[in-house]
Amino acid sequence: MRRKLAAGNWKMNGTSAALGELDKLCTAHPSSPVDILICPPATLLHRAATAVEGSEIAVGGQDCHEATSGAHTGDLSAEMLRDAGASSVILGHSERREDHGEQNDDIRAKARAAMDAGLKAIICVGESLEQREAANTLDIIGGQLSGSIPDQSTGENLIVAYEPIWAIGTGKVPTLEEIGEVHDFIRARLERRFGEGVGRSVRLLYGGSVKPGNATEIFGVSNVDGALVGGASLKADDFSGIIRALENA
Ligand code: 13P
Repeated sequence: MRRKLAAGNWKMNGTSAALGELDKLCTAHPSSPVDILICPPATLLHRAATAVEGSEIAVGGQDCHEATSGAHTGDLSAEMLRDAGASSVILGHSERREDHGEQNDDIRAKARAAMDAGLKAIICVGESLEQREAANTLDIIGGQLSGSIPDQSTGENLIVAYEPIWAIGTGKVPTLEEIGEVHDFIRARLERRFGEGVGRSVRLLYGGSVKPGNATEIFGVSNVDGALVGGASLKADDFSGIIRALENA
């Protein structure tokens, strides 16, 4: 059985005051049958880790460098994230692919570094609107999966997030059939590459305009093991609604 996961990606949002939302979340979910993860900006990571200590909530990073240390001004290694209290790191988010020109090879190298440091890698894949309209979605996702997931992946250290770029922050969500088609495809690809045991144990998250109001139906789709949530993870009340929907799915 895969343990469900509600993950929040705060992106480049939040200063000290945002830690209050984390306190609210800890109070609202003293225990939960699902995993709960918040990925704040790196500036808040250590304080967030301290704030959730003793609770069921985990914290993670939003990116890491592929090297363990060295002359890389402004970057953070996986070990540094781990040291600051992270258990996971988001990699290959479409905003990093776009803003920083990250390619599948870069993301695979980062994922290797994350796994070597003992972090779970949440590898993001997803198509643009043009690619979907040209009926290229599965080709694109297939290439992203084979290019960005390292060979050392297991059900323990890998999580895949399907985030259609056109659904991020837009309020647009694919149909449940479209989500199911992509998630079933990802599952099949993982089973083919890693064998049924590992392939079936990797958790698959959907991300893109998940809100308390649409979470229940999305969590009812086959092979959706949780969500990677942007905007609605910034407010504890909204994210709580999504966590509860996952708990009841
Ligand atoms: P939104 O939930 O704001 O659409 O963002 C999704 C996302 O990019 C999470 O990584």
